[in-house]
Amino acid sequence: MAKENVIQMNMPQVRRPEFGLEQNFTKYYADGNAVLTQILNSLHVVFPEGEKLFIRSVKYFQDEIKDPQLKARIKGFIGQETQHMAQHEKIWDTLESQGVNVREYDAWYSKNAYETVEGTIRKIFGEETYKKLALSVTCALEHYTATLAEVAMDPELNAMQGFDENMKALLMWHAAEEIEHKSVAFDVMKQINSGEVIKNAGMVIGTWALLWYGAVGAVKFLAEDKDIKLTDIPASIAEKAPLTAKLLAAMVPKLVQYFRPDFHPDQMNNDYLATEYFDKNQKFFQKAG
Ligand SMILES: [Fe+2]
Ligand SMILES: [Fe+2]
Repeated sequence: MAKENVIQMNMPQVRRPEFGLEQNFTKYYADGNAVLTQILNSLHVVFPEGEKLFIRSVKYFQDEIKDPQLKARIKGFIGQETQHMAQHEKIWDTLESQGVNVREYDAWYSKNAYETVEGTIRKIFGEETYKKLALSVTCALEHYTATLAEVAMDPELNAMQGFDENMKALLMWHAAEEIEHKSVAFDVMKQINSGEVIKNAGMVIGTWALLWYGAVGAVKFLAEDKDIKLTDIPASIAEKAPLTAKLLAAMVPKLVQYFRPDFHPDQMNNDYLATEYFDKNQKFFQKAG
């Protein structure tokens, strides 16, 4: 008999996990480290809005896709990203009760990134090129999330050592699904023949956006954090410097591969991390209807 929820790479499966995270994780959940926690808190805001862009950009081209297999993968991709958005937003109340002004940051970031910046690109390049660029930014950020997932799940790097177990559960699930659907948007981009210039431009824009909006949120949350002093921050950074160096050394070569004309996300040998994760963590999931 077929095992339920068995991962089938290249066919993203929609899951509705129950992590019971609300009011149920420590303030400095990232191994007690304030700086790393506030960077991740910034991503709890940046990800859901980014995922709305990912879905929107794939939907622009959904009707042009005729291959039933790719159509089904797009459906799975949209379902998974919708769940990611919901699960990250589900912890916003808890973060706010811990003094992290996530909604205030979300209001500024959403307007700046998706009205001012995206709106300007749309005006300058026109509708057709804008849509292709939006998809190429999605593909680039999907390569980031799959690469981040790979290093975060790597048992040797053990990046989440000392993390609050409940928060780790959320991050591991998101990571595993990012690996599971890593090539969907890219295959849509291939089908519409965006070309190398647009593909690479998406990587440049996506890198800037992730670093800039990730950093602004982290700095805001750290500056507003009443439980730490400014003078504590260098020690907090120094504590995670060896891990950061290891993660960057692992990630940068994988990220730059994206610029190769023959790059495809399926070349990244990380499927086994997702497969193992889903095999071991069935307890969190009930099959979505
Ligand atoms: Fe996601
Ligand atoms: Fe994704």
